[in-house]
Amino acid sequence: MNARLEIRVKERTTELEQKNEEVQQLNGRLLQLQDEERRRLARELHDSTGQMLAALNINLTLMKDLTAAADARMTKIVQDSAALTEELTRQIRTMSYLLHPPLLDEAGLESALQWYVEGFSQRSNIAVDVHASDDLGRLRSDVEIALFRIVQESLTNVHRHSGSRNASVHIARDAERIVLEVRDKGKAAQAGKKTFRPGVGILGMRERVRQLGGKLEIHSDEAGTMIRALVPVAEDQQAGIAS
Ligand SMILES: Nc1ncnc2c1ncn2[C@@H]1O[C@H](COP(=O)(O)OP(=O)(O)OP(=O)(O)O)[C@@H](O)[C@H]1O
Ligand SMILES: [Mg+2]
Repeated sequence: MNARLEIRVKERTTELEQKNEEVQQLNGRLLQLQDEERRRLARELHDSTGQMLAALNINLTLMKDLTAAADARMTKIVQDSAALTEELTRQIRTMSYLLHPPLLDEAGLESALQWYVEGFSQRSNIAVDVHASDDLGRLRSDVEIALFRIVQESLTNVHRHSGSRNASVHIARDAERIVLEVRDKGKAAQAGKKTFRPGVGILGMRERVRQLGGKLEIHSDEAGTMIRALVPVAEDQQAGIAS
């Protein structure tokens, strides 16, 4: 009876391990699809919506000249419409760039992060210091996207939860791995709560890092919070050398 029970337990364990493996594969695929979808949306917004807004802006400029001599109310409406179009163009551009920063493909992680952090600081009023080691270079594109998304989520968390007025982002690499750290000096993640509960943000970061064979560490106490992502980079994982 005991032996049969043992066999049954072993079978169930194997089944669960298989299911776990399947869920992890699905998670990885979903994150990849999310990145592809964001890239597609970003391009669509920029190329299609952005172009149409540019055309609209030209029309409005022409109308402004035509109506200047005519009705004052009409002139005002056209002027307001032109201002709205300009604002909309700016918003669409920011949205497109946040969905997938063109700098990430063109110039690499460090430039994309500098650009992102500048906008983040303006929007949030949180001063952020970015420091990347000189030898960072270009990394495989999935590694660059993952690290960019981790900084994006971590800084969003600093803004939403920490109350800190400043934060820092550090990226360093050695022969085997990339170490990314995002720190703030705000209140602890578990402050006022019995236990710390990760949400979609932290679970997503953890999954991204796991998919790359690395790990995510979170340290949080009254001195502040630090998110550290450790991602292995074998020589053949560098951009250009990867197959
Ligand atoms: N920098 C931080 N400072 C203080 N608390 C934090 C910080 N980062 C995360 N937390 C805490 O950890 C929790 C989980 O973070 P997580 O990003 O997973 O979820 P969330 O930000 O609440 O929601 P979302 O799923 O939209 O990201 C937060 O609700 C918050 O309590
Ligand atoms: Mg979050």
